[in-house]
Amino acid sequence: MLEELRRMREQAKEELQAVLNLEALESWRLAYLGKNGAVTRALRSIGKLPREERPAAGQLANEIRQELEAAFEARQETLRQEALAADMARGAIDVRLPGRPQSLGYLHLSTQTLREIYAIFAQMGFQVLRSNEVETDTTNFQLLNIPPHHPARDMWSTFYTTEPGVLLRTHTSPGQIHAMRKYHPHPIRVILPGKCYRYEQVTVRSEHMFYQVEGLAVGRNITMADLKGVLTHFARQMFGPERKLRFRPSYFPFTEPSAEADIDCILCQGKGCAMCKYTGWLEILGSGMVHPNVLRNGGYDPDIYSGFAFGMGPERLAILKHGITDIRYFFSGDVRFLHQFA
Ligand code: PHE
Repeated sequence: MLEELRRMREQAKEELQAVLNLEALESWRLAYLGKNGAVTRALRSIGKLPREERPAAGQLANEIRQELEAAFEARQETLRQEALAADMARGAIDVRLPGRPQSLGYLHLSTQTLREIYAIFAQMGFQVLRSNEVETDTTNFQLLNIPPHHPARDMWSTFYTTEPGVLLRTHTSPGQIHAMRKYHPHPIRVILPGKCYRYEQVTVRSEHMFYQVEGLAVGRNITMADLKGVLTHFARQMFGPERKLRFRPSYFPFTEPSAEADIDCILCQGKGCAMCKYTGWLEILGSGMVHPNVLRNGGYDPDIYSGFAFGMGPERLAILKHGITDIRYFFSGDVRFLHQFA
């Protein structure tokens, strides 16, 4: 009997060493220490032994049970620790992998163009002034010499709000009034950049929202020569030092005389191509000498002061500069377009 018990002990220990997971461990426990396990059965059979053999066999069997229970617990703990370590290794960060780079933002083409424009006018002493996108009929039209029902209003139909007389500005020109009222009677040299709105069909050439940059200079003895000089300098900085500028007579209610300015085509150098529609010229802005009524509305006496104003669309300038075929790309939010100018 004692020999049998010892053999069982050795076998149990050997098998326990070979147990590699918790399920196998449980099978082992049932096989030796469970209700019908070998150790339990051995203990139960002690009573059937001859009286003189019982004490030694009972003692050994009990020792073995305690020993195997302790071995079981130790093995269980080891396996748990191993399982935990394996789990941690699986879930851990692999520091050898390259990181995922954050995608950096970049400036929208309109913003880039606006900043280019600011920098050029800054060279000539123009400061940037901002004014509201929501305007009134008075400032957007009437104080700019456009009375109600004037046919010139057809050039600027806009989005009206439910508040009577309150509208989204159709151009940055109301900023002329705000600038003059803010600074009079001092000389003014400002550019007024910002968004404008027009109620019109959206096409390749027109959007219902776009940027403008207004320019305004007011002072004594300002003439059309100053307007031409400033705009020629601007065009050469923006489009290349060889650029020629052409002024065509035009009409705006708030300037007199009025002129539209063209540059010689940057693609064909004025020879004529599809870009300039075979005219050799590209229109870049509207301009003129500030109308006496507008000077007066701004608080300046037109007998003493004069000034010039101009308005240009940065998207249009960017279209010319980069050969873009459709203004709708600017605000459609397609990063494939925007990314080309990153
Ligand atoms: N406000 C005019 C427009 O939107 C442009 C302009 C500005 C013309 C200033 C003359 C002087 O068409």
